[in-house]
Amino acid sequence: RGASFSIRRYCFKTPAKLRVSEAVSGAHLGANVKVQGWLRSVRPQKANLFLHVNDGSALQSLQVVASSELNDPLLTLGSAVEVTGTLRKSPHQKQPVELEADQIHVVGDCNPVDFPFKKKERHSLEYIRQFPHLRCRTNAFSSLLRIRSEATTAVHSYFKENGFVQIHTPVITSNDCEGAGELFRVEVSSSDIKFFSVPAFLTVSGQLHLEVMSGAFSRVYTFGPTFRAENSQSRRHLAEFYMVEAEVSFTQSLEDLTKVMEDMFRSATEHVLAHCAADVDLFHKHVTPGHRVSPQGHLLFGVTYSEAIDILNHSSQKFAFPTDWGCDLQTEHEKYLVKHCGNVPVFVTDYPYDLKPFYARDNQDHPKHTAAAVDLLVPGVGELCGGSLREERLDLLRARLEETGLEDTYSWYLDLRRFGSVPHGGFGLGFERFLQCILGVDNIKDVIAFPRFSHSCLL
Ligand code: 4AD
Repeated sequence: RGASFSIRRYCFKTPAKLRVSEAVSGAHLGANVKVQGWLRSVRPQKANLFLHVNDGSALQSLQVVASSELNDPLLTLGSAVEVTGTLRKSPHQKQPVELEADQIHVVGDCNPVDFPFKKKERHSLEYIRQFPHLRCRTNAFSSLLRIRSEATTAVHSYFKENGFVQIHTPVITSNDCEGAGELFRVEVSSSDIKFFSVPAFLTVSGQLHLEVMSGAFSRVYTFGPTFRAENSQSRRHLAEFYMVEAEVSFTQSLEDLTKVMEDMFRSATEHVLAHCAADVDLFHKHVTPGHRVSPQGHLLFGVTYSEAIDILNHSSQKFAFPTDWGCDLQTEHEKYLVKHCGNVPVFVTDYPYDLKPFYARDNQDHPKHTAAAVDLLVPGVGELCGGSLREERLDLLRARLEETGLEDTYSWYLDLRRFGSVPHGGFGLGFERFLQCILGVDNIKDVIAFPRFSHSCLL
């Protein structure tokens, strides 16, 4: 009893430390509090000093009102401060709560001349990208990172609610799942030691490991960093990106798979719009104005690859890349198809068999030989997800691996077809492209904290 009494007395005397999000909520009016953060604005006005403090917990900053006696030349945009005072109702509707300061302590000063962000200026995403170590101090990028964090939660929630088991698939692997040769090799830096005895690479996809696990858990997913040595400067490619991958056993058709893709896409989008309304609003209104996403109202279209080729060939638009049956769909084709279908997400199914990796299930249709593969194309971005039914028939899979001389490398993968093989399928969603799509962000480098791409590995 004695101990709890003294703790209460201590709390009563010491100002409660609050995050800015708690302080602005209005739940602590009249309380004596301490708030820590960085200055987003400094405005001396007559006998008063107005500051805005932000600690990253919310888009909204806390307005601090102080007597000009507390002014200090070190109180500048970007400096770190600790403010103690009383939370009061503000006369301004825009910010119903303000902190009447008794004490302001500069924890870390910030030279306003060298600081790259200036008072009252709205800096473009392109401009702030030049400062990967400081851009989280801007409203736009801190909003983005909060949205990204919440979207991560949304993805995990979706899978949890739908009975999926999360698997931590390895980052270092000895296989090239996609067979595209875009692998980063892993080596010991200080010697010639062959650490793994076999060539080892950073993963391009966790799919094959998920397939192992779907053979025991039925529904599995992974969500982690993925690496591709694509020598691309495009607005939708990174060398290190995050992929959400799912694998589902006992799938009978591509529709079983597209249903999961659609559900996850909708549910994650709705979650983000509901939980990050203010941050998303900032993007839609000020950072990428004009962009809107409402997954509830979206119809998802479905066309086969052959239909897509017909649509492209009947278009009046001139494409830089060929559109003959058998050609891979390029970004320009994907964007056209999305527009053609009314600017809504579009599933394209049944791609030419030869375009797809060895694991894709053969539709066994002739002469237009296709695989049961599907891509989800979305407005503004193009390809967001790629997936397929997997070839679960031992003889067909073995024959395809033999064609490419890979049957020994993948003997364990063939084993999965020998011991209790079931029809199954899965997909991968590019997490950064998902963020680009819901926020209308043009360049993928603006939706990840520390972008890695060819000729750039800053920090
Ligand atoms: O279509 P992809 O290559 O599919 C796979 O890797 C499958 N093994 C996934 C699976 O079935 N489990 O890649 C999936 C998605 C793409 O649709 C795209 O959104 C994203 O990953 N992606 C990239 N995102 C950013 N930068 C890159 N370099 C990307 N490459 C693929």
